[in-house]
Amino acid sequence: MRSDPTVHEAEDLRAATAAVRRHIDAAPEVALILGSGLGRLAEAAHDTTTVPATAIPGYPESTVEGHDGQLVFGALEGTRVVFVQGRVHLYEGYPVQQITMPVRLLHALGARQMLVTNSAGGINRAFRPGALMFITSHLNMAFASPGVGAERPAAPAGAEEASFYDLDWTRRAEQAAQARGLEAHRGTYAWTLGPSYETKAEVRALDRLGADAVGMSTVPEVVQAQRLGMAVLGLSTITNPAAGLAAGGLDHDEVLEVGARVRDDLMALVRDIVQAADA
Ligand code: HPA
Repeated sequence: MRSDPTVHEAEDLRAATAAVRRHIDAAPEVALILGSGLGRLAEAAHDTTTVPATAIPGYPESTVEGHDGQLVFGALEGTRVVFVQGRVHLYEGYPVQQITMPVRLLHALGARQMLVTNSAGGINRAFRPGALMFITSHLNMAFASPGVGAERPAAPAGAEEASFYDLDWTRRAEQAAQARGLEAHRGTYAWTLGPSYETKAEVRALDRLGADAVGMSTVPEVVQAQRLGMAVLGLSTITNPAAGLAAGGLDHDEVLEVGARVRDDLMALVRDIVQAADA
């Protein structure tokens, strides 16, 4: 029995789900996988319960010191949410199955909507640092298998053509961004493995392929969520012009600084987006 990987994975997921259910008394509706710096938003949630990764069998442990993995369940804007903290990336050496495991877990716990945010380099010349980009499509330039769980339902016919991103939710989020006076665009996100930034030649290539922004996360989780039938909203903060598109080199401090500058606006917008989730 245990030699069948499908059975194995389903059993592991059941064990993880049962472990989390012992800590919480209400199912989450919206899963929040937020980029670095937005972790503080969890402090704004009410009635929170924190479940450490170490209490969840099979949950990926973050290798980044001080970024212990945990799930924070609570209410934000009257909606049951769960924050995934201590997000892990493929470039840290995890099998992609581990990166997508929290998505399978949150779906099993009841979440049917997922917001994913990230930082990205801008390729589209109209995107200034500090602007936001609602992701409407993506390019998998890591050429990695999305690694979705064996327990997923078979991909529906025409799944490749179906959008990965929920356009109605995105439209409502765009209106919220506009109401806040934020610069927000739509675009295609190219996922590269990282952890190094792209070369100028790679950015030129991505530009020709139709990418508007480039970053090192998000796509595995989105593919998993879509396979499970979850509604997904993807939001990038453009922290810098991608390599070669601005005078001077790409400076990691600049990336962090721009991220910090837009953080408060972004946190307010994430609250609007949660509120718009069930409109
Ligand atoms: N490239 C990849 N990832 C990033 C970038 C970039 O220019 N900026 C922020 N994350």
